[in-house]
Parts: sequence; structure tokens; C-alpha cells
Amino acid sequence: MTEPASFLLPLERLRARQCAKWTVYDADVLPAWIADMDFALAPPVRAALAARLAAEDLGYPKMYPRAGLDALFAARMAAQYGWQIQRQQVEFFSDVVQVIHLALQTLLEPGDGVIIQTPIYPPFLQSVAETGRRQLLCPLAQTDAGYQIDFDALAAACADGARMLLLCHPHNPTGRAFTRDELEGLAALVRRYQLIVISDEIHADLMLVDRPHIPFATLGEDIAQRTLTLTSPSKAFNLAGLVLAVAVFGSPALRAQFGRLTEHVRGGRSAFGISATAAAWEAGEPWLAAVKAQLHANRDTVSEFVRTRWPQIRHAPPEATYLAWLDCRALDLGEEPWRFFLREARVALSEGPSFGTEGEGFVRLNFATSPAILAEILARMDRALTTAGKSRPAAR
Ligand SMILES: Cc1ncc(COP(=O)(O)O)c(C=O)c1O
Repeated sequence: MTEPASFLLPLERLRARQCAKWTVYDADVLPAWIADMDFALAPPVRAALAARLAAEDLGYPKMYPRAGLDALFAARMAAQYGWQIQRQQVEFFSDVVQVIHLALQTLLEPGDGVIIQTPIYPPFLQSVAETGRRQLLCPLAQTDAGYQIDFDALAAACADGARMLLLCHPHNPTGRAFTRDELEGLAALVRRYQLIVISDEIHADLMLVDRPHIPFATLGEDIAQRTLTLTSPSKAFNLAGLVLAVAVFGSPALRAQFGRLTEHVRGGRSAFGISATAAAWEAGEPWLAAVKAQLHANRDTVSEFVRTRWPQIRHAPPEATYLAWLDCRALDLGEEPWRFFLREARVALSEGPSFGTEGEGFVRLNFATSPAILAEILARMDRALTTAGKSRPAAR
């Protein structure tokens, strides 16, 4: 037996957390919904936060020009992905969804069409609707090999006046990490129809397959010029409560258009967010590697469980993220499955329909937790399905 990983936390510690994941539902519910991980902080992050607190150094933080976070980020992108950017292209915001809203408002006009590949992380749908831009929904095609890009649907959306591709890469909730061929196909459409691209790459550091993440902006200088790349340390290093996001402007023109916004509507960064992010990027890699190994094992636990116990549920193991997207339609539960599992299993999953109409009958299960808690989540769901006469071993 190997030692349990040091970042795993027991249930009592998690139940004492104040974050949304552990407080929104009743105390007997196991939460597997919002995208936070149930892990302890990376030791360098903990040390950096402790040092900041010990110094009682919570005055207005200095982000520019000497915080160095922009240079650190640029160096990290070069080292991790071979992506060469200048620190001057980098700007920090409060959170990724905030920048999506700001970009929709500054880079497009009311009514402009925005391509969204559904099912999709719900704020993509909301941000386009709320800013008065037009949703051009291009559902991913569900195949036995997992979700695939439907290029015919994309071409039709482009012909229908699309001005922007709002890309989620890797893709939440399906867990797809698009291949170079797929990305080249998207890039061809971007070139042909002169689209602007927002590429949300917040899950890039959470690849679970043996190939590197490919930043969309690396597909060519002309593509980079049209692309605003967004990311954050919040997913991979589990720092969402510290609100800090990164934007990379692919060209001065994009930045100038975005720059119509006055400084203060861009939000702020916190002293803790800056310290934690710097520590994560400078020294968090060993922790992240261990976390990814755990996520990999958990992903396999989930897919094996689904395969053997719930053959009616359709599921393609995610290539990235810690989110399992489960197609429960064939269970025929007579209600949305998240409701069934919350009531009957006391497990809180993300509600499929919030990811668009393609999510009806689906749930999203967050498996970034300890093997013990994950086993309990699956056992509870299994008992509920067995009681309802819906669980059966797979035919071999
Ligand atoms: C694709 C995607 N983008 C953005 C976010 C949220 O980022 P932020 O908290 O920085 O707005 C998430 C969170 O789960 C996500 O999955």
C-alpha cells in the first residue's frame, strides 16, 4: 500500500469549510457539484499566504509594474506549452467570467452572433444573453468515442453571421481536450470568417491524457492576433476564493478595443490572490503533479464504476478537468437525475439542464475528492438506483 496523498482531507475537515461547495446543501449531503477540489493547499501556497498574514501586509497590493506576476505567467506558458508571449500582453482581472462579460461588451456590438459549443459551462450562455449578444448554439456531437466537434453546425453558424467563437478548451462539462486537428479545423473557420476568439483555457493545467494542452493562440500568428485567452490559477491550484484571473491579448488592436473600459470597472486583485498565485506558479508543480495523479485515478474509478454498475449511463472519461459528464437519459428516472440523486442518494451533482438543453437528463459529477469520499458518493448513488430498480451489472 502506498501512503495516502498528503493533500487528502477527511470529511470532518471538509464539512467545516465555509465555501459554497460545503455549505449550500444540508449537512447530510455529499457535495460533488461546483468546480472546487476537496484538497489541502499546495504547501508553497500555504506558506506564501501565511507569510503575507504574518507580515500583516494587507495594504493596497502592488500589481504593476514590479509584482512580476506577468513575467512569471509568460515564463510558465513558455515552459508548459511552448507558448511564447510577452509580459506586456498579460493583464490580470478578478475572474474569468468577468472578463468574458467585459470582452463581449467591448469587442462586439449588440446582436452580434457568438458561437457556443453546447453543452457548456452555464456562464457562457448567461454572459451572451445578458450582454445582448446573440447565441449561436453549435452542439457537440455525442458519439461512442465521446463528444466531437460538429463542423457542419459551425460552418452554418458562421454563415449565419457569427462574429465570435467563445471556446471552452478544455471543454467543461464534457472534459474534451481538443486535438490539434480539431483546433486546426476551428482555426480554418476563424480565418475564413474573420472571427474573434475568446479561448477560456482555465482547465488547461488539468490534462488527464498523455498529450499536452495546445493553447488556441499558438495555431498561428494570425490566429493569435484574433484571440483573447483567459485562464486562472483557480482551477488547477484550487484558489477560486482568492479571485484572480489572467487575460492574454493576442494583439494591440484587441487590447485597444477592450481598453475602452475604464480601469476601475476591471475589478481588483487581492494581496492574498497575488501571493498565492506567485507561489503556485513558482513552486506548485510537484503538488499539481500529485493532484493530477489522484484525479487520474479517480477518473478511472468513476468510469469503471459506471461501466460495471450502471451500463445504462453513457459516459466518456474526461481527457481533462475533474468533471464526469453522465448521460442518465436511458435510466428513465421520470425527473431530472440531479433531483433524484439529491433526494434519494443525498449527493449533490451539477444540474444538467443548466449546461443548455443538451444537458437535459445529464448530471456532472465532480470527482476531485478523496478516494474514500468518492467511493461513498458512488455507493450512495448506486443504492438509490438499486432501490429504484435501475442499477444492474454490465453484461460482459
Ligand atoms: C470553463 C470555466 N470557465 C470559467 C470558470 C470560472 O472561472 P472564474 O471563477 O475565474 O470566473 C470555470 C469554473 O468552473 C470554468 O469551468
